[in-house]
Formats: sequence, structure tokens, C-alpha cells
Amino acid sequence: MAGINPYIERLHADLPKRKYRIKFIFDETKETKIVEVDPEKLPYDRTGQVGSLLEIALGNGVAIDHSCGGVCACSTCHVIVIEGLKSCSEPTDDELDMVETARGVTTESRLACQCIPNGECDLIVVIPGWNRNLVKEGH
Ligand code: FES
Repeated sequence: MAGINPYIERLHADLPKRKYRIKFIFDETKETKIVEVDPEKLPYDRTGQVGSLLEIALGNGVAIDHSCGGVCACSTCHVIVIEGLKSCSEPTDDELDMVETARGVTTESRLACQCIPNGECDLIVVIPGWNRNLVKEGH
């Protein structure tokens, strides 16, 4: 499933104008993957907002859970942006309401499907392991 949720506030974000990098860290295994984002190649995937961490991740072989299909209706795409958060779109009230339902929320928590970096700096993004376990184990 992909698309836009008509029941949530419309997201306004600046898309990047130059290349930048995202380092994804899988919290569970400490594996990392660095992705170079090229604005001319957006969207990389059709899941989540265009330019969002989720669509960039999925389009570059980085697995992030996304039970609702990237429409801000679950919290399985919860990630923690430990570097570069200032370059990301402001979260909407709908995103804030939904991300609060994730486990292990921090002040740097975002929904990957709604968080759109503007490319002004590189990012480091941690993908928590517990969401993956919750979905697979059905707890
Ligand atoms: S995939 Fe459901 S809120 Fe992001």
C-alpha cells in the first residue's frame, strides 16, 4: 500500500536540492548502511512521503517496517534521527500523536514515512529493533 492519508494534516516540506548522505544504523545488530540521496532520483520508492526517510530507505535496500504503508497510521516506521534532525521537515500534529505510540520514544524520534530531510546536512538514523520484533511476533 502506498499513497497519502486523506484524514491527516497535509505535510509541507522542502525537498533537497543537492546530494546528501544518510547513515542508517540497525540498533539490534549495529549493522550500518550509508545511502547517498540524489534529489534527481527521488522518489526511490512509492511508500511514504516523497523524499521521506522511509521511501529512501526502502528504495536502497534498507528494511524499515511500515505496517500502514507509509500513511502515518501506525508507528512501526519509528526511527531516531541522532544527527541532522534540524534539516528535517517539522513533524505535524498527526505525526507527533502517532509517534508517541511507539516504544522507546526519544526527543529525536520520527516516523520515517513522514520525515523529509531538506539535504542541508548528512544524517545518522537509528532503526530500533523492537518494532521489527513486534510486527513479526504479533505482540
Ligand atoms: S509506516 Fe505507518 S506511520 Fe509510517
